[in-house]
Amino acid sequence: MRRLKCAIAGCGGIAQVHAAALHQQATAELRAFCDIRPERAKAMADTYGGTAYSSLEELLQQEKIDVLHLCTPHALHTPMAAMAAERGIAVFTEKPPVINEAQWEEFQKLGEKVPVGVCFQNRYNPSVGLLKELLASGRLGKPLGARAFVTWHRDAPYYTESGWRGSLETEGGGVLINQSIHTLDLLGQFLGRAASIDATMTNHHLKGVIEVEDMLEAHIDFSGSPAVFFATTAHCTDSPVLVELVCENGTVRMEEQEVSLRWKNGGREFHQLPQPLSPTTGKAYWGQSHSLCIADFYRSVLEGTPFRNDIPGVTDTVELMLAAYRSAREHREILL
Ligand SMILES: NC(=O)c1ccc[n+]([C@@H]2O[C@H](COP(=O)([O-])OP(=O)(O)OC[C@H]3O[C@@H](n4cnc5c(N)ncnc54)[C@H](O)[C@@H]3O)[C@@H](O)[C@H]2O)c1
Repeated sequence: MRRLKCAIAGCGGIAQVHAAALHQQATAELRAFCDIRPERAKAMADTYGGTAYSSLEELLQQEKIDVLHLCTPHALHTPMAAMAAERGIAVFTEKPPVINEAQWEEFQKLGEKVPVGVCFQNRYNPSVGLLKELLASGRLGKPLGARAFVTWHRDAPYYTESGWRGSLETEGGGVLINQSIHTLDLLGQFLGRAASIDATMTNHHLKGVIEVEDMLEAHIDFSGSPAVFFATTAHCTDSPVLVELVCENGTVRMEEQEVSLRWKNGGREFHQLPQPLSPTTGKAYWGQSHSLCIADFYRSVLEGTPFRNDIPGVTDTVELMLAAYRSAREHREILL
């Protein structure tokens, strides 16, 4: 089996999950790491083998790789993806691929040059698969509406100690672009393309600490099915993300890997789906499907076939996120 030579840019928190997944994957060969904090790149090279660099430029000059993983701060994803694409290197970027409309224009063009994938790994969660099957089977009937709540806890040091979070220039936004973009994405996976969004955002608990929003709410029209969306980092803990779909024949509720159904005829069903384990910690956590998502991207590159999270596959979500921010900034509904 052919193995794709790969490298990781940005060796902070999420890079550990990418590296562990790639290390276990038969189609990948980890060759290099880079971070502006060289000790982080070195620590990863010491663990996994390969060479450490202190800049992406140097890594790209020295290494012949097939795939570049982007685990850097948000604002760097598009420019770094462009550097790789210029050299014919496929890109697998962490979310969000872009922080604004100008980057989105540029990012979309990269897909014409090389395979590009975006890490919306929750699409690979077993509970998400079950909900999609239930909808596709017709058992639930037509969706009538939905609600999605992300109520998590992020305190001041999470922002102040990162060197990039909490700043509009480097993070691009707050609880929507960072924590709850996955949930916005899942609403689209279940309900299709949104027709309009009306959103507001504010900063409640970290006033003076961050310039991005710590709370955002939106009313989204998914072509006939209204969805209410609420995300905050001001909660006391990371409660399980809730997505609930009200359909003609019943209501289905997903909280991480728990799926419960209340049928209109009074029937009840409960499914506890298996928690896939994180390749690094061995513990389950929301977002543990990185390995499946990365393996699927490598399969698509090797086979030259489409990837679920390629640019067309993430367009609705990225455009909905950008529209949410535009709506909140301009205090008006945005039509998509
Ligand atoms: N898919 C998910 O569920 C998930 C979860 C966590 C983070 N993420 C995403 O991963 C990305 C990184 O997040 P994180 O939590 O790992 O952040 P982090 O701060 O822990 O890591 C980022 C790393 O990038 C490095 N870096 C900064 N500028 C650089 C440059 N010019 N060149 C090379 N390296 C550079 C930093 O030194 C740091 O080590 C973000 O886009 C975030 O949204 C995704």
